[in-house]
Amino acid sequence: MSERKLTRIAVIGTGFVGSSYAFAMLNQGVADEMVLIDLDKEKAHGDAMDLNHGLPFGSPMKIWSGDYSDCDKADIVVITAGANQQPGETRLDLIDKNTKIFKGIVGDVMASGFDGIFIVATNPVDILSYATWKFSGLPQERVIGSGTILDTARFRFLLGDYFNIDVRNVHAYIMGEHGDTELPVWTGSNIGTDPIHSYMEKYKPDGTQEDLDEIFVNVRDAAYHIIERKGATHYGIAMGLTRLTRAIIRNENSILTVSSYLQGEYDLEDVYIGVPAVVNRKGVQRIVELNISEDEKEKLHHSANVLKENMEPVFK
Ligand code: LAC
Repeated sequence: MSERKLTRIAVIGTGFVGSSYAFAMLNQGVADEMVLIDLDKEKAHGDAMDLNHGLPFGSPMKIWSGDYSDCDKADIVVITAGANQQPGETRLDLIDKNTKIFKGIVGDVMASGFDGIFIVATNPVDILSYATWKFSGLPQERVIGSGTILDTARFRFLLGDYFNIDVRNVHAYIMGEHGDTELPVWTGSNIGTDPIHSYMEKYKPDGTQEDLDEIFVNVRDAAYHIIERKGATHYGIAMGLTRLTRAIIRNENSILTVSSYLQGEYDLEDVYIGVPAVVNRKGVQRIVELNISEDEKEKLHHSANVLKENMEPVFK
């Protein structure tokens, strides 16, 4: 019987997000190998040691701290490195410093001979996904940003809590920038195939659109509230990155709201932005064009314009 090719994930950056992602990947047994790479080699080595000591409680996985040369056989490189939001900072405030950091990281990864899929998590994730695509020269379907995967999860969690329904039966997306201009897509959102407003009329007659709008605001501003309390967000995004990694590794053809490169979809061109996309072993297989309302399309275009207005550091 021929040997199965082992799947390898390289994690660039073992700060809050990178180490939480590594821990989630270990617990979910998604890949065969995981190499941790960080400027702070001692930190990466300490994380690898700590994770390996948990292996007897989980499924087998080879975990080590390494360097960019270990990316040559990686199926996926996940970039979490960079400066993160401080209290009061927006994600767009990080563009200059993180674009410079990414130019170095992506160059080093490509120098290893890497020919897999990039997952970008560092903010501003949409602009840094575009930068990774540009700096790497890989086809756009093999550069995927976490996009609004976490925002959609937050949206589904809060809607499920509001309606007292299992979050897995709540189907609603957040699209746009992973940031202040993101938008809720009410058109087509449903609870167990029942359109959300019809469900609310029948089963939560005291519910109002104001409640739903407030839920969206809490989704959009969630990171600020978490950062104020604990200095960073990392568990939610780590779970979202693990979900995205699993969709690729297991060739799932899952629809996830990730930051993808648009070439005319939603009448948008040349921008990475959070949209529902079919994700499988090849990366973004297809963008899903929802029948969104004119108002939602206008908000999506506004979000794309804000991203385009902030792209200058990528082309410096
Ligand atoms: C957040 C970070 C991942 O939204 O931007 O928590």
